[in-house]
Amino acid sequence: MFERIDYYAGDPILGLVEKFLADENPNKINLGIGIYYDENGVMPVLDCVKTAEKRIADSISARPYLPMAGLPGHRKGCQDLLFGKDAQVLKDGLVATIATIGGSGALKIGAEFINEWFPQSKCYVSDPTWGNHIAIFEGSDVEVGKYPYYDTATGGLRFDEMIAFFATLNKDDVILLHPCCHNPTGLDLTHAQWDTVLNVIQEHELIPFMDIAYQGFGEDMDSDAYAIRKAVDMGLPLFVSNSFSKNLSLYGERVGGLSVVCPTTDEAERVFGQLNSMVRRIYSSPPSHGGHVVDIVMNDAALHEQWIGEVYAMRDRIKAMRLKLKSVLEAKIPNRNFDYITRQNGMFSFTGLTPEQVERLKSEYSIYMISNSRMCVAGLNTNNIDYVANAMADVLKD
Ligand code: LMR
Repeated sequence: MFERIDYYAGDPILGLVEKFLADENPNKINLGIGIYYDENGVMPVLDCVKTAEKRIADSISARPYLPMAGLPGHRKGCQDLLFGKDAQVLKDGLVATIATIGGSGALKIGAEFINEWFPQSKCYVSDPTWGNHIAIFEGSDVEVGKYPYYDTATGGLRFDEMIAFFATLNKDDVILLHPCCHNPTGLDLTHAQWDTVLNVIQEHELIPFMDIAYQGFGEDMDSDAYAIRKAVDMGLPLFVSNSFSKNLSLYGERVGGLSVVCPTTDEAERVFGQLNSMVRRIYSSPPSHGGHVVDIVMNDAALHEQWIGEVYAMRDRIKAMRLKLKSVLEAKIPNRNFDYITRQNGMFSFTGLTPEQVERLKSEYSIYMISNSRMCVAGLNTNNIDYVANAMADVLKD
């Protein structure tokens, strides 16, 4: 009966975690998946989360179904973070926000919405992008294309080509954008470049869909949301998927949000209703524990401030690791330019290693990176960085 079912080739990111776990080398290092580890190589539980969880344990015992859209405080937390606490667009009731099962759940509901209500639209993703972007949209029967982004030859952006490409697209085509900490390249647009992108989007009546999974890991919470807030100021319709996996270190709790910015309150109400109906038919309602944590941390002023400090500490440690990696590699291979390591933002560095070099790092040194050369810099620490730099230098020299 099931012989005709295709084998699953596995996921390039999650499959690598399984290989890493099976590796018996005590020196193994996981620089594959986008997870932040602290200076001791441990995934942190943030102090603000610990406090919130104590409050949950003390006050919440029953576990009713949540509303389809999730907890109101979770939704408000997403909105304040993305658009700014006092944003006019929130006061005017123009944003339909639902809590989602991580950033992936937000992308899925967004993709279903596009497929149902904009069936002619294609979705364009950056070349390259996070592999699941393509899988999620194609899985919702939305045709996916790629727009020019990363220049392999220079390690820079193909900015002019990107703008020229956007100008060829059809009205209502969807452009998937990374407002900060581009995954996988770490290469972000300047604010001036965002202005140009959003102007061409406006001129050609395209639909921006911004996926922000690393807010706070680039510059700061507000600067990282520049593209989102600018699009709102320009009156563009806008989809935003956001994730709390990284910045609350709540990967397994699967907490995120989907917001759709609409021209009128009536439209926002209609969109909100349709998002609810999609949630109902796909998974009914979101889980509650992570939603309560988000609600408490985002809406308690003291905890929120503590949280910001904890995110910036993670951000700063990653930046310090970038500097260190760059200087060690420069000392080892003086004729090669490693400026890209500190030019890139967020958790990832696109190292430009060939798939063969990445394979050698894995088989000879038990250092795990994605085969497209993406390294999770957040997996480096002062204890393993020399080992990694030495291994990189070895495979680069040969
Ligand atoms: C990543 O890109 O490594 C993360 O977003 C985790 C994932 O699900 O792929």
